[in-house]
Amino acid sequence: MTFSKRALFLLFLLILMTSHLRSQTYNKGKKIYQEACLSCHQEDGGGVMNLNPPLDGASNVISNNTAYLIKVVLLGLKGKVALDNKYYGNVMAPHNNLSNQEIADVLNYIRNSWSNKKAKAKKILVEDVEATRKSLP
Ligand code: HEC
Repeated sequence: MTFSKRALFLLFLLILMTSHLRSQTYNKGKKIYQEACLSCHQEDGGGVMNLNPPLDGASNVISNNTAYLIKVVLLGLKGKVALDNKYYGNVMAPHNNLSNQEIADVLNYIRNSWSNKKAKAKKILVEDVEATRKSLP
């Protein structure tokens, strides 16, 4: 197969556009994180010892069980739950005021930030958030 210059140029444009779109949703997720999550989970995703769990390096955050993550954001989390064998005393309130798109963006942000980048976790789609929200009583 031979590539004409035009085909190469179009391919280049396509790559540029998709990487631009990808970084756009990443930046949207980052902004939501800064506004709604950073105060507890910290800028570096490291959390606060005994109070708020780290999101960086957390096994649940990079796992394929994306419904769990969506539920944590929609319903919040409290009580005695072991997260990577540690307990945290603070309470996470529900964030069901965020739209399905915002939840997908912020979760994709935490799954693709800090050391979590290495995990190459699968992307959470807005449809996933929609389905999980509908499944809740
Ligand atoms: C008021 C502080 C606070 C805010 C704000 C907050 N969280 Fe949390 N988050 C917590 C606490 C505390 C827990 C653990 C609760 C427990 O162990 O009972 C938690 C748990 C989690 C978990 C589960 C971690 C695991 O290892 O299973 C995720 C994911 C999470 N938060 C994401 C977010 C996101 C995304 C936002 C912003 C939309 C956010 N949190 C906002 C305090 C907070």
